[in-house]
Amino acid sequence: MSKEKKIVSFRKILVSAIAAAGIVAVASPALAAGGAKHPRDGGFSFEGPFGTFDQGQLQRGYKVYREVCASCHGMDHLHFRNLGDKHGPFWNPKYPNPNDNPVVKALAKELQVADIDSETGEALMRDATTADKFPNPYPNATAAAAANGGAAPPDLSVMAKARHDGANYIYSLLSGYVAPPKGLKMAPGQNYNPYMAGDLTPFWEGEGHAPPGGFIAMPAPLRAGQVSYDDGTEATVDQMSKDVAAFIMWASEPKMVERKQAGFGVLIFLILFAGITYASYRKIWKGVAH
Ligand code: HEC
Repeated sequence: MSKEKKIVSFRKILVSAIAAAGIVAVASPALAAGGAKHPRDGGFSFEGPFGTFDQGQLQRGYKVYREVCASCHGMDHLHFRNLGDKHGPFWNPKYPNPNDNPVVKALAKELQVADIDSETGEALMRDATTADKFPNPYPNATAAAAANGGAAPPDLSVMAKARHDGANYIYSLLSGYVAPPKGLKMAPGQNYNPYMAGDLTPFWEGEGHAPPGGFIAMPAPLRAGQVSYDDGTEATVDQMSKDVAAFIMWASEPKMVERKQAGFGVLIFLILFAGITYASYRKIWKGVAH
């Protein structure tokens, strides 16, 4: 291929790439129509480059998970001892090994887990210990789906990472249930939520555009006063939604605080290193014509 031809074909590729990008940009809003409402801001302490978890909030969030959500949702990645990990809900610097943390031990003991008698081999239930995983409410996904009208409640251990804008999304979803708009044909066993992803156009018999959001098999799980917080915080639906969203965020990224701190340290190092490099450059080339 001659040089000119090459340039021409390169230009062609460039032009078609720009055109394709333009088409995608124009088409996207059309695809987004009928989408979900943008999540509300939960005002979380862990947002921003220096954000950390609010330990009181994580403790309240654990209570909401345990007393409300755990009857349907597992958190398979969590062991009880994790509750006492650094920056975790029940972390106490007095117990560097979370297995020694008395609060964590007591919380584990409140629950029963399946085990096998080491002598007879028979199945039995015993008190959980810090070494145990959080027990799952269902023996398997099929049983979970069967008990919930066909939709298995997803595992919540990494849910804040599995959804865009995770913590704000979970907060908005839980506190955002409203009565279905008039004109929306409800599918059996479904609930309406404006923050749930979906497209309600096929179910819309009202005027104008279909409402935002989608159907969700989970009925609104929270009612005011459903848990009683140990720190006296009022258990409104908004408060419980925020707290449990923060707890799920911690579970999804337990090392977030360390990650942010390490990132900041690296930046400081790079700035200092750049200064030293520049100073030595000046020194080495001092008096040398270049
Ligand atoms: C009665 C059982 C039940 C309870 C209690 C319950 N859920 Fe659910 N949840 C479900 C089911 C079923 C789904 C699947 C919904 C679907 O796919 O339509 C679900 C889905 C979800 C989702 C995923 C939504 C999405 O974007 O796909 C989140 C997040 C969630 N639940 C959080 C919670 C939290 C937090 C609690 C406690 C406050 C809770 N749930 C309590 C049954 C339950």
